Amino acid sequence: MARSMEGRHVVVTGGSGALGGAVVARFAAAGAICHLPLRRMPEQPAFEVGPNILPIEGIDLSRQEDVDRFYDTVPDLWASVHAAGGFQMAPIVDASLDDFRRMMEINTVTAFACCRAAVRRMRADGMEGRIVNVAARPGLEPRRGARATAYTASKAAIVALTVALAEELKDDRILVNAVAPSTLDTPSNSAQMPNADTSKWVPLKAAAEAIFHLGSPANMASSGAVLPLYGRA
Ligand SMILES: NC(=O)c1ccc[n+]([C@@H]2O[C@H](COP(=O)([O-])OP(=O)(O)OC[C@H]3O[C@@H](n4cnc5c(N)ncnc54)[C@H](OP(=O)(O)O)[C@@H]3O)[C@@H](O)[C@H]2O)c1
Repeated sequence: MARSMEGRHVVVTGGSGALGGAVVARFAAAGAICHLPLRRMPEQPAFEVGPNILPIEGIDLSRQEDVDRFYDTVPDLWASVHAAGGFQMAPIVDASLDDFRRMMEINTVTAFACCRAAVRRMRADGMEGRIVNVAARPGLEPRRGARATAYTASKAAIVALTVALAEELKDDRILVNAVAPSTLDTPSNSAQMPNADTSKWVPLKAAAEAIFHLGSPANMASSGAVLPLYGRA
């Protein structure tokens, strides 16, 4: 089999977001066919819908039935990249249990549900495959997660999920990895931190390139890795 991405089917979650949009652009530029599960189409999508970019609306990735229904539409799944997620900064007394549940749901539950559905599809199609989760620096280094404990716990769970699943799938030819970015250079971060030194942040293209490598056939042996993407921070 050719080792390029040309014509390979890839799921990218969070495709309407900053990182997901950059990941879609990178895979599509390499000729992959990108399937995007979206709750709703953004008003100004960063991607251009066409034969290589196929959004499907009405998918809430924290709902198993939505996730399974979506993955059932994807033929010959090669890679599944899980960039859906979110962030909340709040000292613990200001974070309610609902806030904690929301962080676990938006980050961990969506990643678990997509890993599960991707493995089902890859096995059913008899495919070799790649799964890439998106953790975050505090998930690897929880001391950095002060005042964002719910977020940190949800990302640490993604680290554990990634490593455990990589072990579980050793005999399936499905390689499972994650990236752990520090602050990404996104429009939203720039708006919220107008005085920050953005040269220390990780460019979206750089993060997308790392994810692309882990999700491509060029990654022949790495599994269970959580790749720090810390820029100059
Ligand atoms: N930005 C950073 O500095 C940074 C740093 C480290 C890690 N990360 C992680 O990187 C990932 C992407 O970050 P980002 O900055 O690109 O975030 P973003 O722009 O807010 O995008 C998040 C995406 O996730 C989607 N999403 C969330 N919950 C969903 C659900 N239940 N079902 C379907 N889609 C859902 C959102 O869809 P909607 O449009 O429907 O809301 C959106 O497309 C996240 O996991 C984040 O924690 C980000």
